[in-house]
Amino acid sequence: MLLSNAVRLPKVSYGTYKVAGKNMEELLDAALDAGYRSIDTAEGYRNEAAIGAALARLLPAHGLTRPEVFLTSKLAPRSQGYESCLKAVAASLDALQTSYIDLYLIHWPGAAGLDPADPRHAELRAGSWRALEHLLAAGTLRAIGVSNYGRAHLRQLLDICSTAPHVNQVECHPYYQQKELREFCGKNSIHVQAYSSLGTTVEKSPLLVDPAVQEVAKEVNKSPAQVLLKWALQQSLSVIPKSNNPRHIRENMQLEFALDDRQMSLLSALDRNTKFAWDPQGVV
Ligand SMILES: NC(=O)c1ccc[n+]([C@@H]2O[C@H](COP(=O)([O-])OP(=O)(O)OC[C@H]3O[C@@H](n4cnc5c(N)ncnc54)[C@H](OP(=O)(O)O)[C@@H]3O)[C@@H](O)[C@H]2O)c1
Repeated sequence: MLLSNAVRLPKVSYGTYKVAGKNMEELLDAALDAGYRSIDTAEGYRNEAAIGAALARLLPAHGLTRPEVFLTSKLAPRSQGYESCLKAVAASLDALQTSYIDLYLIHWPGAAGLDPADPRHAELRAGSWRALEHLLAAGTLRAIGVSNYGRAHLRQLLDICSTAPHVNQVECHPYYQQKELREFCGKNSIHVQAYSSLGTTVEKSPLLVDPAVQEVAKEVNKSPAQVLLKWALQQSLSVIPKSNNPRHIRENMQLEFALDDRQMSLLSALDRNTKFAWDPQGVV
């Protein structure tokens, strides 16, 4: 996917929320082997140092160099604000053992410890954005964006920014499709990256066992997970499947097939406003 500043974001990234540090090297080894060239982490996932250490060993072992792997990280709500954001990015660079990050996102429109209606959220995230613009200009970040921003948060940001966000990473799957938000992002050249495509880490994801998803999977002879990822890719969303299982990691990269119009419609008809992650709409 080509971002509005011509930086190329791989269509499939390896998601690392709830991927523990102790298994990181084995899992990243499987991911690189399977062809992943993009890893999604965050200050809040507490695994940046494990990723940095694993990549220091794995990149040479896979014959890869740093520019061949796209790294995304995110600013935690506790680090919102100009100075804190600069410090958080410096800490992420250090933990990831890199001199630049390919894509850096404000993880959440709010700041930690404030009531959702507190007007300081807007002030603090505006400060974070100024810090990201500064780091983009310095070349420390190759692309900058936001995550969990609704249309109101984006409108506010577009009014004050010098550089518009390149990406908005949001929850998006057949049960929660965010059509209006995606349309708004499209009009403003903001790439939408989908998270929780597989229904997030729960005992039994309702998405993976949904009868329509299973029916389409049977028709195309693929797994429900592959069908859900393909549904997103065919709408120009990029995806970030998370897995602690090397077999799933491989499977989630094998997406060279197509869903036809009827199959896409069957999946899109599942929209029901069912969300798995926290709802950011209440944050002013
Ligand atoms: N910006 C944000 O606020 C935000 C929020 C949530 C997530 N994210 C990002 O998006 C990534 C993905 O979202 P997510 O963590 O919510 O989870 P997800 O990718 O929707 O789902 C992960 C779950 O699906 C299972 N799974 C993975 N591949 C499978 C397969 N091929 N077949 C069957 N089950 C499979 C995993 O189990 P196994 O581990 O056993 O394979 C795990 O239980 C995160 O890791 C993170 O990087 C961002």
